Amino acid sequence: MSTNTTENLTAVELLFLTETLAGLQASPKFMQAKYFYDERGGSIFQQIMEMEDYYLTNAEMDIFSNQAKQIAALIMMENTPFDLIELGAGDATKSIFLLKELNKGKQKFTYLPVDISAHVISDLEVNLPKELPGLDVKGLNGDYLAMLNKATTLSKRRKVVLFMGANIGNMNQDEAADFLLSLRKLLSNDDMLIIGFDLKKNPKQILAAYNDSKGITSAFNLNLLERINRELGGDFEPENFEHYASYDPESGACKSYLISLKDQTVHIGDTATIGFACNEYIFMEISQKYALEDIKKLASSCGFQYQTNFFDANKYFVDAVWTVTDASLT
Ligand code: AVI
Repeated sequence: MSTNTTENLTAVELLFLTETLAGLQASPKFMQAKYFYDERGGSIFQQIMEMEDYYLTNAEMDIFSNQAKQIAALIMMENTPFDLIELGAGDATKSIFLLKELNKGKQKFTYLPVDISAHVISDLEVNLPKELPGLDVKGLNGDYLAMLNKATTLSKRRKVVLFMGANIGNMNQDEAADFLLSLRKLLSNDDMLIIGFDLKKNPKQILAAYNDSKGITSAFNLNLLERINRELGGDFEPENFEHYASYDPESGACKSYLISLKDQTVHIGDTATIGFACNEYIFMEISQKYALEDIKKLASSCGFQYQTNFFDANKYFVDAVWTVTDASLT
């Protein structure tokens, strides 16, 4: 940001400012994980996904690279054209295995990747049809539910929604239930949801994924302070904060915090001054882990019928297949 006044902010930056201040002026302080993903945050997240300790990506890759045929068969069991809507599509490295299988089938389908980042969508629209000739791609740039709603207005075909990568874990369990209920209300009977959950497992293994020795996850969290400096004229000194991750095996909540290493004051442009006490924390992100029975309960409480589960070879991760049974449920 070239100046500190809010008048010069774009609508997107203004929302970022408003939501950031709401979190930093709250007690306890918190930030919204969706803001991790600016260009730099996206590239640090890429490094996280390549880390040995971050087992989630390989686990879900194992599912899609080895069982895409079975997943495609389930989708095509209902012998009618459909729309495949992927929430948070990214570069589609995992879903491409499924797209390849579906592309071999006889049923017509359109792939509608949804992503908050416009360049992700345009890259997919250009690159996927080159890799999979004949694939019909229509990208939707924006918020998950708003774009799913838009997709329902674009065609009357049945919907298959993909929500992978354990993104549901970045909501706490109440938020996840609210989100899934809202999502289901946008769907019709027999529509399908394929959703990835990271499973409860050895606590040390989970903690290592969010507290890596190379400090990549720490850099991912601290980048949000740097982003506030870059875009909102903040003066955070990231070296005065430390990344701390915790995992509670009972609740399955893995949480990340930034801890203030001293009493300090931070300015956000000329709009706010925030005081931090030594050892005060900012809650950054939850990565909720699930037991299989919790997942089944979540499905039925949100109006879905559990169909089947696809696991990786280690059973670290599950892609669950649910269908809508009672679209009228409110
Ligand atoms: C995107 N999301 C599923 C990641 C997770 O595992 O919660 C984000 C992440 N945060 C730190 N490491 C990875």
